[in-house]
Amino acid sequence: MSKKIFIKTFGCQMNEYDSNRILDTVKEIGFFKTNNIDEANCYLLNTCHIRDKAKEKVYHEIGRVKKNFRFKNKPLVIVAGCVAQAENEEMLKREPYIDLVIGPQAYHKINGKIKDYLKKQKRLDETEFDAISKFNFFEKVKNSSQKISSFLTIQEGCDKFCHFCVVPYTRGPEYSRPFETIINEARILAANGVKEITLLGQNVNAYRNENYSLSNLILEIEKIPGILRIRYTTSHPKDMTDDLIETYAKSKKLMPLVHLPVQSGSNKVLELMNRKHIIEDYFKIYHKLKKINSSIKFSSDFIVGYPGENENDFNDTLDLIKEIKFINSYSFIFSPRPGTVASKLELIDRKISLNRLEKIQKELFNHQTEMNKSLENNIIDVLVENKTEERGKFFGKSEYMTSVIFNAKEEHVGKIAKVKINKSNQNTLFGEIVKNTKLKVA
Ligand code: SAM
Ligand code: SF4
Ligand code: F3S
Repeated sequence: MSKKIFIKTFGCQMNEYDSNRILDTVKEIGFFKTNNIDEANCYLLNTCHIRDKAKEKVYHEIGRVKKNFRFKNKPLVIVAGCVAQAENEEMLKREPYIDLVIGPQAYHKINGKIKDYLKKQKRLDETEFDAISKFNFFEKVKNSSQKISSFLTIQEGCDKFCHFCVVPYTRGPEYSRPFETIINEARILAANGVKEITLLGQNVNAYRNENYSLSNLILEIEKIPGILRIRYTTSHPKDMTDDLIETYAKSKKLMPLVHLPVQSGSNKVLELMNRKHIIEDYFKIYHKLKKINSSIKFSSDFIVGYPGENENDFNDTLDLIKEIKFINSYSFIFSPRPGTVASKLELIDRKISLNRLEKIQKELFNHQTEMNKSLENNIIDVLVENKTEERGKFFGKSEYMTSVIFNAKEEHVGKIAKVKINKSNQNTLFGEIVKNTKLKVA
C-alpha cells in the first residue's frame, strides 16, 4: 500500500530543490506527496539555520505536529536541512518525537534510513558530508518537476567563510556537479514542460567543472528547445568573472536581473565581515554589465547592525542603494550564528539596528514602488506560470522577477505573453494580455 509524505520547507531555494528531489527519491519506496498533513504517514521538516532562533523554530514546529497527531498514529518524523546538520544527534536527545535526523549531504541515503527505521524502530542521525555520492545518486532518480519555472542545483557548499555565515558549516565545502549531468537534468526538465530554469548554488558563480564555468552552462542550456528563460542565484562578487559578464551580451535567454549580494556599502564593514571584495569591485561589475546592456538591473542582500558598523558605515550602504537603485532586494539585521567568527563579537544596540533596517527598507521599497509605477501603461514580457484562485486571473513573472497578475487564458500558460500593466504596488504588477497594440514595449 502506498504511504503519504508531507514535507514542510524553510529557507533558501536550495532547500526547495532538495525537498523536490527527496520527493522523487522516496517514491521508490512507496511514499507519495500529500499536501494534507492529517493523512501523512511521514512528516519531513526541511530546515534553515541562517538567522534568528532557527533551532527553536524547529522544536516549536515539531511540537505542533505532536499536538496535531495527539489522537492519531504517530507519523515517521524526519528533520532534514541545515539545522539538522548543525545540531545532529542533539535533536534526537532533546525531542523524542523526532525519529530521523538527516543532513543536506546525506539525502541519497534517505530511503535506506527510512527502511532501517521502519524495520528496527531505532532512531538515527545521518549528517556526514558527502556531496559527490548525493548527486551521483540523484542523477539516477528522474527529476519530476513539471512547474513552468524550476530550480536546478549545480553547485553546493561554500569555501568563503564570511564571518557572519553558517553555510560553510551546514553545507560543507564547495562542490560543482559534472557539466553533462546538469545538461541532462535540464533536458529532462524541458521535456517535463519546464520553461524557465534557475541554476542554484550557495556560490553559483563559483561553479567550475573541468574547464566549464557557469557561462558555459548558461550558453549550453539555452540551446535546449523549450527553455525560454535562464536565471542563476546566489552569486558572489568575487566570482563575477569577465566570461560570465560577457554572457549577458551573448545569451538571448539569460534574464537581465543580476542578484549580487553586497551586504554593506562600507569597505570597513566588508573587511570585518571577511567578504573578500571591496565596494570599488562591486561598481566595476555594475559598470561593465550596464555597458553591455543598460536595462540590466541589480538586486542584493544587505545586513545591517553588523558588529562594528557605525553611522558613517551605515550611510555608505544607504548611498550605495541610492546609486545602484536595487530592485527586489533582501535586508536583515545581523543575527549571531553559533560557531561563526562574528558570534563572538559585541552586538550593537538592538534599537539602532532596528532603526537602520527601517531606513534601508524604506529606501529599497520606495525605489521598488517607483520602478513598478513607471511600468504602468507599458507592455512587458511575462512568463505565464499558473492560474490564480480568482477566476480568469493568471500569475507570471516579469524579466526582473516581479510578480504579475493579469487576465489571460489557459492556453497562455507556459508562454511569454505581452501584458499591459494597469496598476502596481510595491511587490506586484496588475494588467491584461494584449495583442497587436501600438503601446510602448518597456
Ligand atoms: N552566498 C550568498 C552570498 O555570498 O551573499 C548568500 C547566501 S545566504 C543563504 C543569504 C543571505 O542571508 C546573505 O546574503 C546574507 O545577507 C544573509 N545572512 C547570512 N547570514 C546572516 C546572519 N548571520 N545574519 C543576518 N543575515 C545573514
Ligand atoms: Fe555565506 Fe559568505 Fe558563503 Fe555566501 S559567500 S554562503 S554569505 S559564507
Ligand atoms: Fe538556510 Fe541552509 Fe539555505 S542555512 S539559507 S537552508 S543553505
